[in-house]
Order: sequence, then C-alpha cells, then structure tokens
Amino acid sequence: MSYKSEHERSIQDPDSFWGEQARLIHWEKPFNEVLNYSNPPFAKWFEGGLTNLCYNAVDRHLKDRADQAALIAVSTETNQEKAYTFKELYEEVNRMAAIYQANGVKKGDRVLIYMPMIAEASFAMLACARIGAIHSVVFGGFASHSLASRIDDAKPKMIVTAEAGSRAGKPVPYKPLLDEGIALASFKPEKVLIVNRGLTEFTMVAGRDVDYATERQKHLNDIVPVEWVDATHISYILYTSGTTGKPKGVQRDTGGYAVALAASMKHIFCGNPGETMFCTSDIGWVVGHSYIIYAPLINGMATILYEGTPLRPDAGIWWELVEKYKVSVMFSAPTAVRVLKKQDPAFLTKYDLSSLRALFLAGEPLDEPTATWIHDAIKKPIVDNYWQTETGWPMLAIQRGVEVMPHKFGSPGVPSFGYNMKLLDDATSEELGPDKKGVIAIEGPLPPGCMQTVWGDDKRFVSTYWETIPGKTIYSTFDWGIKDKDGYFFILGRTDDVINVAGHRLGTREIEESISSHPNVSEVAVVGIEDKLKGQAAIAFVIPRNSDSIANLEAECMKTVDSQLGPIARPGRVYVVNALPKTRSGKIVRRALQAVAEGRDPGDISTMEDQTVLAQIKDIIDSTAKA
Ligand code: PRX
Repeated sequence: MSYKSEHERSIQDPDSFWGEQARLIHWEKPFNEVLNYSNPPFAKWFEGGLTNLCYNAVDRHLKDRADQAALIAVSTETNQEKAYTFKELYEEVNRMAAIYQANGVKKGDRVLIYMPMIAEASFAMLACARIGAIHSVVFGGFASHSLASRIDDAKPKMIVTAEAGSRAGKPVPYKPLLDEGIALASFKPEKVLIVNRGLTEFTMVAGRDVDYATERQKHLNDIVPVEWVDATHISYILYTSGTTGKPKGVQRDTGGYAVALAASMKHIFCGNPGETMFCTSDIGWVVGHSYIIYAPLINGMATILYEGTPLRPDAGIWWELVEKYKVSVMFSAPTAVRVLKKQDPAFLTKYDLSSLRALFLAGEPLDEPTATWIHDAIKKPIVDNYWQTETGWPMLAIQRGVEVMPHKFGSPGVPSFGYNMKLLDDATSEELGPDKKGVIAIEGPLPPGCMQTVWGDDKRFVSTYWETIPGKTIYSTFDWGIKDKDGYFFILGRTDDVINVAGHRLGTREIEESISSHPNVSEVAVVGIEDKLKGQAAIAFVIPRNSDSIANLEAECMKTVDSQLGPIARPGRVYVVNALPKTRSGKIVRRALQAVAEGRDPGDISTMEDQTVLAQIKDIIDSTAKA
C-alpha cells in the first residue's frame, strides 16, 4: 500500500476509505451511509449511526484496560501529580455528568468550560460528551470581553470554572474575570460550577454558583448512562479568530470527529493502545481538544495533562515526564522548542528518551534552525504538521503509518487522507503547477472531523470559507503556500488579518477593537511582525484624540487589551503616530505598515493617499528603538 494510492482512494472513493476507518470506533447502531453530500458544502458523515465520544474515549476501554493509566495530570505549578486509570476516569466523568444533570444540563445544552489545565477540565469535557451536551472551552488566558462575546454566542446553560490558574508559581485568578464576563454578557448562564483549588480568595454568587467538591460528594456513586447520539450530533463549539472582530464558533460533529482522530492516530501519529501520549498544548485550543483529550483516549492511550511552563522546576521537566511515563508520542509547538533552545542543552540528554518515537510540532511555521536543533538534541524524527481549528486534525503531514516517506525541511509534508488540497492563483482562481505561490484550498467535501458549520450561522460558514475564491465554491484555508513537484506543500503565511503569536491564533481586528475602546484613541491599526521567539508579535499604531496626554498611552493601551482580551493578545509595542497609511478610498494599508515595522521596503505605495505617512512612521519606530 502506498501513500499515493491510499490518498487517491480516499478522494475518489470516500465511502470505501472512510467506511473502513469507521471500524476503528464503536458504533451502537451502524450508520446508513458513509457520506451525505447532497447539500454542499455541508458534509454529513456517518449519518444515522449512533455513537458517543465519551464511550469511545473511556467506557470502551474498561474491558481490557480498566486498571491502566488513562489520564496523568501533572502540575508543576501546585506540585501535584495524579494518574487516573480508565476506571477512575470513568468514575470521575460519571460524577461530573451526574452533577450536570442535577443542575439541569440536558442533551444539546451548551456548557462553557473556562479552566486551567487540571484533571477536572477533562472530566468536564468528557461528561458533556457523555450526556450529549455541547462543550465550548474558552482558553484560560482570555479575559472578560473575550468571555462575554463567547457567552453571548454559545448561550451556555452552565459554566464550569476554577477559581484560579497558576503561571510560573503565581496564582492567576479566573473567577473575577468570569464574573465580569458574565456581567458584560447579555445572556446569563443559570449555573456556574466552581472547582476550588484553594489558590485565591473568591466570592460565590448565591443561587448561581455551585461548589464542585460539595456536588461531587453528593454524586460519588452515580452512574450516568451514555446518551447515544447521531454521528452528526454537535460535540463542541470552539471559537477562533478571523478577519472580523467577532470570533467564529467552529462547530464539530461526533462520529466523523471520532473516526478522523482514530484514523490520524493510525496514519500520522502512530501511537499504540497502552502507550502514553504527551501533548503540551492547552485544552483551550484545538490541539488540546484533539490530542490531549480525545484522540489518545479513543486510541486507548494514556494522556498527560500538564499544567506548568517548560522551564519549571528546570528546562528538563518535559523530558523527565517522557522518561517517567514512557511517552511514545509527543506533540508541541515550535515556540516551545525555541524557548528550550535558550537553555542548557544538557537538559535534553539527561533523561532516557528511548520510549519516544517522534516529536510532532504544529501551529506555526517550523523554521529550519529550530527543527535541526531539536532533532540533533533528541535524535528523534521531528514531524511538522499543518492544520487549523477548522479542520480538527492535520491537513498536511508525513503519513508515517503508511510508508516511510522522506521529510523535507520547511515542509509539513503531503495531504492527509480525505483532504483534496489545491493551490490556487488568488487572481484567476486557476490551479497552479509546482513551485508557484497560491492560496491553499480544499475541494469539498471536507473529510470527517472538520467543522460542520459556524455555530448558529450557516451563511457565515459559506461566505467566510467557501466564497472567497472568485468563481469557485472551494474551502479557503487563508494560508499562502507552494507545492513542489513531489506534492510536498510549504506554508507561507496567512492571506488575512490573522496573526500567530507563540502558536496562538489571534485576530488583529479583535485587538484593534479593544484598543479603540480607550478614550484617547481615535484610530488604530494592528499588524503582526516577525519575532524570533514567538514567530510573530502584535504591534499597534494609534492616533490619539488628544495629543497633549499621550505620555502613558502605550501602557494604557496594553492594559486595556490585558483586561478585555487577556495578556496573550497584548501588543509588543504601541506606537503613537499622527496618521496611518491609507488608500485613497480610506482603507488602512496594513501590509505596508507591517513592512515598515519589520524594516522592509513597503513596495509599491502609489495607491496611498499620502505617501509621506510611512516615512513619518518609520522615523517614529527608529527613534523609539534608539531611545
Ligand atoms: O496559518 C496556519 C498556522 O496556524 C493556522 C491555524 O491556527 P489554529 O486555528 O490555531 O490551529 C492550529 C492547529 C495546529 C493555520 O491557518 N499553522 C498551523 N500549523 C502550521 C501553521 N503554519 C505553518 N506550519 C504549520 N505546521
């Protein structure tokens, strides 16, 4: 079997290919058909089949691996470490599901999860899946405005949270941000379930807030039967940034997602049941949903849930965990590797890494020096893989489970099964030959596991993703790329206003909206510029309303972003300027701003209304750098 023939089959005959993959999971009732694509671009996978994500991740393994580790929760923040067997995980998830039911959560209701990386977060996700409730995890680094917009869009019946997270040994309060988020939102959740970690003081809101430990005690011995749901039943909503300031709710199904993840473990990640997977992402991101929680568990593997930085207690901590838990598959992001690169390399050879088969990296471009450095240090294959919140699992990777294909530096590899990927000329929409730069697009149907639609907004799904390439109904990734003669893709950055800071996807428009709420900001533009450590950094340019009081404007803008969106969205610099480069029709030319901020030639500026503006901005940047 070759990659090429299998890929061809997955595109030409999806019924045969995905029908086979579907056997990797449990079906309570078989599906009627593999694919229903009668209403493009909405693909329905395995319609009529009854299954359950929680059953596949937990219950199914009780027969053979009840006493094997399932979830290994490690916190170097609170110095706690606990391994839950599949049986213990089953019990905890049942308790959580019973708490949901006792508090009125039913099939189809949304539960918003705003949690640090603690075991209870995974119970909360799996318990939703168990009863057919829809989870929407919001990254713990987001603040009140980000929470409010998600609460208003998802309308959760319940929110699950902890009173605090912890970062580098310092508690990070969550509860006040959540209370503020709920106050800002028009929709009010009925209940807030709080895991009290004893890290910070907080207040309970009578009638709304419920204490997790008390509830858990009440439901200690409860068993909640699995709710068998249709394969097309919504499992979760995960918000992600796009071109507008309003985050999009990426909506995912149940059966297609389970099959796609199981297939990805077989073809790409090559982890075996009984082994341990360590994914260093966060449950707030898609990588965490797929490869901390669902994929390893569905595959009968133990998964490490890690709260902490890669540097505490020292830079050897990840490799210490690899040795201790015999990790076979590890997954991280290039930024994390760049952080480690600054530390003593002795940390990488101190531990026995013989169990580890490969290190997977995704979320941002993997630069050659970083790839070479980590490869030489741990002497394991480094597997770049490219995907998006929207797709849920890798679009591009070396398909290691099928045949040994050579890696090419700078390329995440070839299309995964089911992805009919094209490179299109952005002006003519024509398909491009080798080595030509174009927009990376996917011909429908999207394979199983990819987004079903934008939550509550089918029109937005179609207009955002399927109608941006003139004359064609084709899914746009909003990434530039090229493909070489062997079919390997290379990623060349976003075509839209999304930036990628330390592997975190952020919308420049959201940051602009936040900064423009500052009373002394009349206009603002945010761009992403190259950053050696984080890949990209956000930089803001603001025009003040009143230029007499600009002394603290930079710090104030940063504070505004911190409190509204969270510190991860804080711009690295805020430059106060007199004007922004605009076209004659008044559009800000962000590309030129980015070029100037990166010290590059802005190219053709003839369409700009005032061609001196960029020179002024360059002076401001240069003089700030000198100061
Ligand atoms: O621009 C691409 C970049 O990250 C975007 C998706 O981010 P997110 O929705 O957070 O999902 C991350 C899932 C891994 C993409 O549109 N990106 C992701 N992986 C890579 C990448 N850019 C270059 N190389 C990659 N391997």
